[in-house]
Amino acid sequence: MKILILNGPNLNLLGKREPGIYGAASAEDIYNDLKKAYPAISFSYFQSNVEGELVNKLHEVGFDYDGIVFNAGAYTHTSIAIADAVAGIKTPVIEVHISNVYAREEYRHKSLMAKNCMGIITGFGMKSYALAVHHFSTL
Ligand code: DQA
Repeated sequence: MKILILNGPNLNLLGKREPGIYGAASAEDIYNDLKKAYPAISFSYFQSNVEGELVNKLHEVGFDYDGIVFNAGAYTHTSIAIADAVAGIKTPVIEVHISNVYAREEYRHKSLMAKNCMGIITGFGMKSYALAVHHFSTL
């Protein structure tokens, strides 16, 4: 089983960025923990702060991989291009957020991509990624 962990803008700063909201773990920590917890899954990781690069990555893996765990960061709330890319690929996508977006500013309550995803996991800290991977591992 092939799973892509895909992170959008500002998530390269995990561990340094607003730790009160996003925690102390880096993206590398999350990725290493997932590889340890699910040795049978073949993981890849990609992060970009650039909208089009995220679209390109969805196109690149989206007809081949078994699952995509996608934290699109702020693009979740703004990007029609990313929402369309998620709709256009074959690989199922689970939308994840570290923070509980519904407990935050109103502009974070809307996800343009959610309706094109299998489901959403929000508010479980770094565990949001593991919960999504767990779902794929049971398919
Ligand atoms: C986030 C929530 C978004 O609203 C925000 O723009 C992020 C991170 C999260 O993981 O909680 O960059 O996706």
